[in-house]
Amino acid sequence: MSVDNLIEVRNLRQTLSGQEILRGVNLDIPRGETVVLLGQSGGGKSVFLRHLIGLIRPLSGSIKIDGEEISRLSERELEPVRRKIGMLFQDGALFDSMTVFDNVAFPLRERGERSEKVIREKVAHSLELVSLQGQEKKMPVNLSGGMRKRAALARAIISEPSCILYDEPTAGLDPIVSDTINRLIRRLQTQLKVTSIVVTHDMISTNYVADHVALLREGRIHFTGTLSALHSSTDPVIRDFIEGRSHEID
Ligand SMILES: Nc1ncnc2c1ncn2[C@@H]1O[C@H](COP(=O)(O)OP(=O)(O)O)[C@@H](O)[C@H]1O
Ligand SMILES: [Mg+2]
Repeated sequence: MSVDNLIEVRNLRQTLSGQEILRGVNLDIPRGETVVLLGQSGGGKSVFLRHLIGLIRPLSGSIKIDGEEISRLSERELEPVRRKIGMLFQDGALFDSMTVFDNVAFPLRERGERSEKVIREKVAHSLELVSLQGQEKKMPVNLSGGMRKRAALARAIISEPSCILYDEPTAGLDPIVSDTINRLIRRLQTQLKVTSIVVTHDMISTNYVADHVALLREGRIHFTGTLSALHSSTDPVIRDFIEGRSHEID
């Protein structure tokens, strides 16, 4: 195991409802870097991310996080792993009946933090990192789409994870709000020195946040390389992706 990789995935296979989704995924995530994972809709990107926090168990293959094999850990043994990895789910998934404060505080309370003073300080710090200071009392329904994403991100980072997984963080957001999210991803990388995986099909976002890029295709990693290697690739599959051509209805 190279000391430079926070995450190493080897020969990861998964079949869901009789459909082979992942057919031997190999991917390294270097510590401190941002890897963008590209791929067609329905190609298994969200399924892949869920494996990294133990929400889905591999059919076969290995997932190492910080050198530790996580694929056969019990729910209880997974707790510290999940604390290391914050996930921003595609749908944001805020609790509608809770204020922003209670949403962001949720992971702390769930793991047994009792001190309201500690909770208040950490919530304030998290909200500040996503530029939502002063919004504690609002209900999710009263936030814009971009603010909801940022509140969900504040909740994902409150446990000070060393890694953040973003599932389509800019999907459904207008270009200006997307730009805010892209800047935030970069800012968290530099301020918190986190390792990030960003699942997206947004090339503007890719160009803004990626150090490395991986393309998932037909259940395998078809390409990995730097952002500039992606752009200089002559592989037709990659050109189509960069230039936004679809083959879904050919
Ligand atoms: N829990 C599940 N049970 C059965 N099939 C699933 C489940 N989750 C996802 N799938 C299927 O796996 C495939 C990949 O889904 P997903 O990872 O969400 O794609 P992506 O995120 O790349 O758009 C899809 O065909 C989806 O319907
Ligand atoms: Mg998805």
